[in-house]
Amino acid sequence: MQCITDIKALRELLKQWRSAGESIAFVPTMGNLHAGHLQLVNRAKAQADRVVVSIFVNPTQFGVGEDFSLYPRTEQADQEKLQAAAVDVVFMPSTEAMYPVNELTKVSVSEVSESHCGAARPGHFDGVATVVCKLFNIVQPDKAFFGEKDFQQLTVINAMVADLNLPVVIISVPTVRESNGLAMSSRNGYLTAQQREQASQLYQCLCAAKRLIQAKQLSYVDIEKLQIKFLTEQGFRVDYFSICRRSDLQAAEHEDAEIVILVAARIGKTRLIDNVQLDIKN
Ligand code: PAJ
Repeated sequence: MQCITDIKALRELLKQWRSAGESIAFVPTMGNLHAGHLQLVNRAKAQADRVVVSIFVNPTQFGVGEDFSLYPRTEQADQEKLQAAAVDVVFMPSTEAMYPVNELTKVSVSEVSESHCGAARPGHFDGVATVVCKLFNIVQPDKAFFGEKDFQQLTVINAMVADLNLPVVIISVPTVRESNGLAMSSRNGYLTAQQREQASQLYQCLCAAKRLIQAKQLSYVDIEKLQIKFLTEQGFRVDYFSICRRSDLQAAEHEDAEIVILVAARIGKTRLIDNVQLDIKN
């Protein structure tokens, strides 16, 4: 595995692979790799000749007072995991390499960026879309892999790729969970053992809401209220618990068939997100 920090050096290597007719898969990350990230890497390995993983803690997607400076940076351990997963290149650019000048351009995906996490974290998805667009332009992969764990992020990236005709196929990968159901996340490291146990209730609540939807007894608004009340009683501060249409993340109507239930809630200072999908057969 090669570890490359320089954009020009990466482009040189990619050019050689491309002229040899090899396909390229890309997995963008912010590091502190766990089994969720490695699942993306394994899917990428299975679908391309070469796999590039980026590790870049992107400052532009963190708001003022968020955890940018605290975000776990575990480069040595990450490289060992990627080496073991037989990744071809880990690309670890510096902030100066990615943002050398006071850039005047940003990518902003309207509507799907504005609700949910976008409302709680203004500018967050502009930072995500911009850095992913830049990384796509640097790597020019055939396929790029994203986790369903960050469902709204996936929706934003899919919209950006479609709207800007970016020549990359986006592959989504189901959420990898701990044995208690907690979605794996780099931010789980902020939790105490007791908080980790408590945090598993987020997934339990999503599953309970899914069953209530399938039972067709309560309105979506009542199901949302019930789960928010339960999570609040369990000590969470709930940002949102929303039953949405999968296509545009707007509030789902009863005739919508493709649903995603999105939740964001805080335990102490740690903000966790999760979701489940369901298809309603009418
Ligand atoms: P990061 O949080 O490091 O996540 C990198 C990728 O791993 C994302 O596509 C995310 O959805 C996926 N992922 C995280 N936890 C997962 C889990 N439990 N199961 C499956 N996939 C999981 O998301 C980002 O970084 C950044 O916003 C990025 C896209 C790299 C742009 O900076």
